[in-house]
Amino acid sequence: MSLVSSGELKQICVIADDAGMSKGQQWAQFLNCPLNPSSLDPYYFRFYIEGERLYVRDQDKRLLEIDFDKNHLDYERKGHRGKQEIIAKALGAAKGCKKVLDLSVGMGIDSVFLTQLGFQVTGVERSPVLYALLSEAFAKTQKEYLKSYKLHFANSLDFLREQNGKIEIDSIYFDPMYPHKKKSSLPKQEMVVFRDLVGHDDDAAEVLKEALKWPVKRVVVKRPIHAEQLLPGVIHSFEGKVVRYDSYVVG
Ligand SMILES: C[S@@+](CC[C@H](N)C(=O)[O-])C[C@H]1O[C@@H](n2cnc3c(N)ncnc32)[C@H](O)[C@@H]1O
Repeated sequence: MSLVSSGELKQICVIADDAGMSKGQQWAQFLNCPLNPSSLDPYYFRFYIEGERLYVRDQDKRLLEIDFDKNHLDYERKGHRGKQEIIAKALGAAKGCKKVLDLSVGMGIDSVFLTQLGFQVTGVERSPVLYALLSEAFAKTQKEYLKSYKLHFANSLDFLREQNGKIEIDSIYFDPMYPHKKKSSLPKQEMVVFRDLVGHDDDAAEVLKEALKWPVKRVVVKRPIHAEQLLPGVIHSFEGKVVRYDSYVVG
């Protein structure tokens, strides 16, 4: 598969060891790319499968890995304030909102935190590589509270159009890539690979418009603290130190 990334086409291949061969075949087919090619040179991204471990490296060996049990990206947060966390307030935890639709799972950091806070989360991700990493991470995690997470591979715009009225959701959460500088929760090398993989989310306003058609209590968009609103009409902003959560519907 050729992956669109920042306007360029970048190639990927899968490299699996003997223990990871059956997963290797599955994901190479899904990504529509070669498995264990004789030369790695043409491939900007290399998707490694070593037994149960999956990770991506770019040509410069920068690493991207999703493992909810390793906690290298703060997947299990200690000392959180439960319903007092601003993300929980924004999503209406105190008003009884429990079922959240995350339209931008990414590395799963927010989704996992929301699940840890007691929300039942359904997530949507459109990057095939991230979807592959996420679905394996959810499959192998030892964390019981993540077992009921529902992950979908789709463009959220299509998902919203097709599923409106079909699934029960209290609040919608959306964290599209911000085109300019954004303080990231990812370390630098992961951020470079991540940005290269997902590119820009230029359709974010369109996705938000579609989300606002759903009969939910909250639609919440995460933004850098000083960024403009994704669309006008924010009813309340819940502000942290570096990000804010703009709430569009308060039911
Ligand atoms: C800024 S990241 C989200 C980070 C995420 N909140 C986390 O905690 O890891 C944006 C992610 O949303 C995904 N995304 C953006 N727009 C999307 C859409 N319309 N459909 C599906 N996924 C989308 C991108 O592919 C990217 O992985």
